[in-house]
Amino acid sequence: MMYMSVIIGTPLQSSAFKVLLLGSGELGKEVVISLQRLGVEVHAADRYDRAPAMQVAHFSYTLNMANAEELKQLIQQVKPHLIIPEIEAIATEVLVEVEQQNIATVIPSAKAVNLTMNREGIRRLAAEELGLPTSAYRFADSLDSFRAACDDIGYPNFVKPVMSSSGKGQSRVKNFDEVDAAWEYAQTGGRVNQGTVIVEAQIDFDFEITLLTVRAKNAETGEIETQYCDPIGHRQDAGDYVESWQPQAMTAVALEESKRIAHKVTTALGGCGIFGVELFIKGDKVWFSEVSPRPHDTGLVTLASQFQSEFELHARAILGLPVNTTRHSMAASAVIYAGVDDLNLSFSGLNLALVHPDTDLRLFGKPEGFKRRRMGVATARAETTDQARELAQQTAAQISIHQN
Ligand SMILES: Nc1ncnc2c1ncn2[C@@H]1O[C@H](COP(=O)(O)OP(=O)(O)OP(=O)(O)O)[C@@H](O)[C@H]1O
Ligand SMILES: [Mg+2]
Repeated sequence: MMYMSVIIGTPLQSSAFKVLLLGSGELGKEVVISLQRLGVEVHAADRYDRAPAMQVAHFSYTLNMANAEELKQLIQQVKPHLIIPEIEAIATEVLVEVEQQNIATVIPSAKAVNLTMNREGIRRLAAEELGLPTSAYRFADSLDSFRAACDDIGYPNFVKPVMSSSGKGQSRVKNFDEVDAAWEYAQTGGRVNQGTVIVEAQIDFDFEITLLTVRAKNAETGEIETQYCDPIGHRQDAGDYVESWQPQAMTAVALEESKRIAHKVTTALGGCGIFGVELFIKGDKVWFSEVSPRPHDTGLVTLASQFQSEFELHARAILGLPVNTTRHSMAASAVIYAGVDDLNLSFSGLNLALVHPDTDLRLFGKPEGFKRRRMGVATARAETTDQARELAQQTAAQISIHQN
């Protein structure tokens, strides 16, 4: 007998199946589109107006989601069936309460959101509880303990505020002389002025991957099963991804080990949805780096490479529906940066960018650009990932950005 799956009502009517998205960036925008295609009513929130996902949602709200009172009030007002945290700067204690009191389902789980918003939570879970291979690490919450931690770990090392993402406040410390400056820099980059940092030994990897891992219900039994997309290779610049490709070639042993690690960590986090498991690879050896309990920026490449993109996979998985992680093409993605600090930007050269039939483009519609803000992405398919990378970069390079 088939298990009973979710019942989807009619959007904007009393039967609506409602989802509240906390964080309305470009990844959330694609998730909203995928949910809307399945008849879901979507409510999108962020700290600023006209954020990308707000532009395609049924309703939108501007608030400080790190403020527990404001967040509680929004949840009471919307009464969502599901809450999807799309960013890390959220009052997660509210989500824990919401889950405990069965007010809504938190995607993928309040535990996952809580542990991954803080590097200390997820690192201790992975290394100390689950015994997964990671870089050597220490935590420090003062300049003195930081100096001692750097001494212990050695050089070069990576310093990251525990509450930060996208490379903010992060630095690579090459020797003792750089220690104090790294501490100062980390203090400016954290999300909350809490000061704790992680010091990680540098891993000398051949390449790094994102292993998109989906926890979704079996259509017949309703049991949660784990499935994997092909590994995604990517290149990071200043803690930010600039290009990605799928598949990343790797040994069968390293791929199996990657899946083992991804299975262990996502099972511990629980719930349904997609996870971006970041891993470092050297030959057959694999280290766990970190995990996002949501679509991953490097996974934008799946818009071009898979029958179901990471956003469609996420939408289906969180609704309790079956997924298909099959890749149909070799593909790559390349990021388009604003290059300027200004509002109200315009984009030209789209015809040139799209002249090759195997290319595509997403412009996110962000109301304001910064030099290093991601405004769009180009994707390309080709016979090899190297050719796809080149084509994606050519495509991105054709877009010119103008101030008005
Ligand atoms: N211990 C390490 N050894 C080698 N390289 C590292 C190490 N830690 C981080 N890096 C490099 O820095 C990049 C960013 O690190 P990390 O993913 O921890 O930061 P982040 O701020 O969470 O970035 P994002 O939010 O973009 O994923 C990694 O993808 C990797 O290229
Ligand atoms: Mg990362």
